[in-house]
Amino acid sequence: MPTTPPAYRIAPSLLSADFARLGDELKAVIAAGADWIHFDVMDNHYVPNLTFGPMVCQALKPHARRADGTAVPIDVHLMVQPVDALAAAFADAGADLISFHPDASSHVHRSVQAIRAKGCQAGLVFNPATPLDVLDWVIEDIDLILIMSVNPGFGGQGFIDSALRKIEQARKRIEASGKDIRLEVDGGIKADNIRRVADAGADTFVAGSAIFGKPDYKTVIDAMRASLKG
Ligand code: DX5
Ligand code: ZN
Repeated sequence: MPTTPPAYRIAPSLLSADFARLGDELKAVIAAGADWIHFDVMDNHYVPNLTFGPMVCQALKPHARRADGTAVPIDVHLMVQPVDALAAAFADAGADLISFHPDASSHVHRSVQAIRAKGCQAGLVFNPATPLDVLDWVIEDIDLILIMSVNPGFGGQGFIDSALRKIEQARKRIEASGKDIRLEVDGGIKADNIRRVADAGADTFVAGSAIFGKPDYKTVIDAMRASLKG
């Protein structure tokens, strides 16, 4: 039976923030209305780029709070191989959700269990050319599916349209499972395409350059929410 669509979430990616002012950028984007903070971890091995590690996550964690004191979840997207040691380190550093690419782990089920044993929610990430087949065996065990609508490694790329079909397929799998699983999309999301992505079945939207590339983050996030309502 189809589940009621959950509330939409906007997850700004710090990848496009000013790294010289990372704490201030985090606070600014939370003040602008971020629901989650997306934290892109790249290892110069699984992807051809290198970003930040668990020590940076740990330093930012105390600042991931709204004015009313409520915590803003830190959504860690691991683009690393192997997965397990860094996943554990990010759990210890305060991550709330940890997602990894199944093709980067030799034992996907074990990696999922290890993340959940640390008290975090676990997600699987699918590259543009990666099929969803692994979900046949682990959908019961995960909290999040993350569909890449660009090839991982860099911000500011264009949205790959075939992701829309994959989002539709992932939504069907979630409905068939009857489980409460978030369906997140990452790459090339902007105020002018977010509605199409939501219509395909996504409920959580990563946006890096679209938000941090503009001077007023709230204007962009508000425009995204308006498109989602419209
Ligand atoms: C790409 C990252 C994305 C990236 C998206 O590997 O996973 O999270 O920050 O950036 P935009 O929104 O600029 O496409
Ligand atoms: Zn990401």
